[in-house]
Amino acid sequence: MKKRFLALACVLGLLTGCGDAVVEEPYIPDTTNQTGTQEAAGTADTGSSSAAADTQKEDSGSSSSDGNIVVGFAQVGAESSWRIANTESMKNTFSEENGYTLLFEDGEQKQENQIKAIRSFIEKKVDYIVLAPATEDGWDDVLKEAKDAEIPVIMVDRMAKVSSEDLYAAWVGSNFELEGKKACAWLKAYADSQNVTELNIVDIQGTMDASAQIGRTAGLNAAVEENGWNLLGAETGNFTQAQGKTVMEGFIDKFGDDINVVYCENDDEAFGAIEALKEAGYQVGTDLAGGEILVMAFDSTNPGLTSALSGEIGCDTECNPLHGSRVEEIIKALEAGQTVEKQQYVDEEIFASPQDITSIDVDGSSYEVTVLTQDVIDGRAY
Ligand code: AHR
Repeated sequence: MKKRFLALACVLGLLTGCGDAVVEEPYIPDTTNQTGTQEAAGTADTGSSSAAADTQKEDSGSSSSDGNIVVGFAQVGAESSWRIANTESMKNTFSEENGYTLLFEDGEQKQENQIKAIRSFIEKKVDYIVLAPATEDGWDDVLKEAKDAEIPVIMVDRMAKVSSEDLYAAWVGSNFELEGKKACAWLKAYADSQNVTELNIVDIQGTMDASAQIGRTAGLNAAVEENGWNLLGAETGNFTQAQGKTVMEGFIDKFGDDINVVYCENDDEAFGAIEALKEAGYQVGTDLAGGEILVMAFDSTNPGLTSALSGEIGCDTECNPLHGSRVEEIIKALEAGQTVEKQQYVDEEIFASPQDITSIDVDGSSYEVTVLTQDVIDGRAY
């Protein structure tokens, strides 16, 4: 496989005058504990993995007859703007032009579909399996089957709880608990700046047992405990706008005027919540002291940040979906027989439209808050 990839790289190099594959942005794997919070998040670095180790195949015997590297990608679904940007990133990177054949399967947010997809990839003898696990539990059996077939599995975005780290070659994604902590640090600082001490929060959670939900909910729960905030209710909106709206309607029926903060675990849920709040006659915005309802969100997609610029979302914490080039870096390293870090966290930002808070502190580290302008939004890739 290594020889095949190098030959392909040389051909591309001759054609383009440059040996590098096309990537969306430079990526330097952050192998240090970038946040100081990985242990707390249950995501401590567990070491490294080498191509020579267990999962590397001598000869792919794969379904590609043209020398391409065959990658099977078991995607979660198409539930959100984030997910669509993520799919695009993977498809753009793993193109025929770049020397890959991509087998893409949309799991429609169902783990059983993803398991089926992985089994079909094994049957087709792909060179690599990339898995974005919908939820954390229940992957051991199928990952063992991939290991027996000597197909390296790279996990991306969310994590899976596995009985042995040998069941996957590497993971790259976000520190979701840190995202939650950053959002809550901003909320605390902002509420203080408005002299609002009583926060009555509802949490529209992501898909239950998904790492993004587990981390963001944990970040909120810790802040509720620490600051004495009131958590009125928490319910899943499954990361979709439609369910976000339905859950918000339920919260309005139950808690009505008591709510002053809506913590949405992604942008799409925030769009649904804002719709429900407006339809019920509530004022959504950043004037917490004046009685507006403050909506928090995650992802920082273009539509999310546009809503934040208008003040309808108060603070949007980034979850970066551009994993195509990151996964490719891992595959290239494995092809070259190099050691790769087992877990690679992506650096992420935090955005808000109020200008009052320009930095926040989480677990002894300081993070800059980017105050939104149209130029900031225009300068972003998704
Ligand atoms: O796992 C990442 C999360 O999944 C994103 O926050 C959400 O929008 C997506 O559906």
